[in-house]
Parts: sequence; structure tokens; C-alpha cells
Amino acid sequence: MSSNLAETKKTILCRGERFRLYLDRDTIQQRVRALGEAISRDYEGKRPILIGVLNGAFMFLADLMRAIDIDCEVDFLKLSSYGASKISSGVVHELKKIDADLAGRHVLIVEDIVDTGLSMAFIIRKVQEEGPASVRTVTLLHKEEATRDEVPLDYVGFRIPNLFVIGYGLDYGQLGRNLPDLYILDDAA
Ligand code: IMP
Repeated sequence: MSSNLAETKKTILCRGERFRLYLDRDTIQQRVRALGEAISRDYEGKRPILIGVLNGAFMFLADLMRAIDIDCEVDFLKLSSYGASKISSGVVHELKKIDADLAGRHVLIVEDIVDTGLSMAFIIRKVQEEGPASVRTVTLLHKEEATRDEVPLDYVGFRIPNLFVIGYGLDYGQLGRNLPDLYILDDAA
């Protein structure tokens, strides 16, 4: 089949570090479709508003929304990133606020990855302050071993080991987001 997307490679270099293929695009899309179907069932008649966390979640959110076949809305917030590091700074800053009025709304927070859980805990607190009807969370990836803050995760795409990943929206120092597949740091390298 012809495609204008880059071909899947087994290993890649990003900023001089080796990453190996972890989840290919078909596996990701299959799981995203299943999450979309579950959300469509659970939110029938509720017109949820999806809150995407920039920058990392933009690709997952775009695919997830297309897998949801009930009325839904979208808005975004942006948090500080890791910068060019692979380790969380432990401090979360809000760089862009949510514009939508969340009072009385069914809110679904959409993250690319939950690592320490600090960002998700921060967002849940922010959203709760707006008086929503309900708050649930979706994350494509969960590094269970790394999660220190207790965060309720309602929909999880994949549970992954505590290693740095890039691709499908996730970056290493802003690079790697455009990869259609997910790659994990090659710990053997
Ligand atoms: P947490 O606050 O430690 O849970 O980290 C959440 C944020 O850190 C995510 O939204 C990502 O932006 C970033 N992050 C965490 N782990 C990774 C990774 O393995 N690759 C790329 N970004 C990551």
C-alpha cells in the first residue's frame, strides 16, 4: 500500500541516542480505536469536552477524536515541558490556560504519557476548580513504575516500562514528534 508517511525503522538515532521500535503505527491505531469506542459508549448523550495537553498529546488526541462517534468538543492547555532533558524537573508551569467554560461539563483530560503523575495531578486540580459535572482521564502511555503522585487513570492505552519514549507526538528536546511509530530508549546500547 502506498503511503506518504515515513517507513517504520527498527532503530533510530535521536540527538545522538539510540531508540528501538516499541509500538508500531498499526498497534497504536488499533488501541486508539478501542479507546474511542469505549469513550463513545461511556459518554453517550453527555457531549464530553476533551482537554488535550500540549504539546505531546496533539497526535493522540487527533486520532482519538476521530475514533469517537458521539458529539464531543475539544480544548487545550499547555504545560512546561522537560526541555532537552529526559528527566522531569519536578515542577509544573501552566503556559496556556484552558479557554472553555468547564462548569457543569463532562471533562476528559487527554495526556500522551503519565510518568511521575505530577502533570496529571496538577491538571485534575485545575479542572476541578472550574466546577465540572465529571472529570476523567485518558493517557496513551503509563509508566506505572515511575508514578509517584496517585492519579486516577480511567482509560490507558499501554502500560510501559520506565524508559524514555519518543514518536507519535512525544519528543526528546522537541525532536521525534513526527515519527508515526513509538520508539523506546535502547537500554542495551
Ligand atoms: P509527569 O508529570 O512526570 O507525569 O510527566 C508528564 C509529561 O512529561 C508528559 O506529558 C510528557 O510531556 C513528558 N514525558 C514523560 N515521559 C516522557 C517520555 O518518555 N518521553 C517524552 N516525554 C515524556
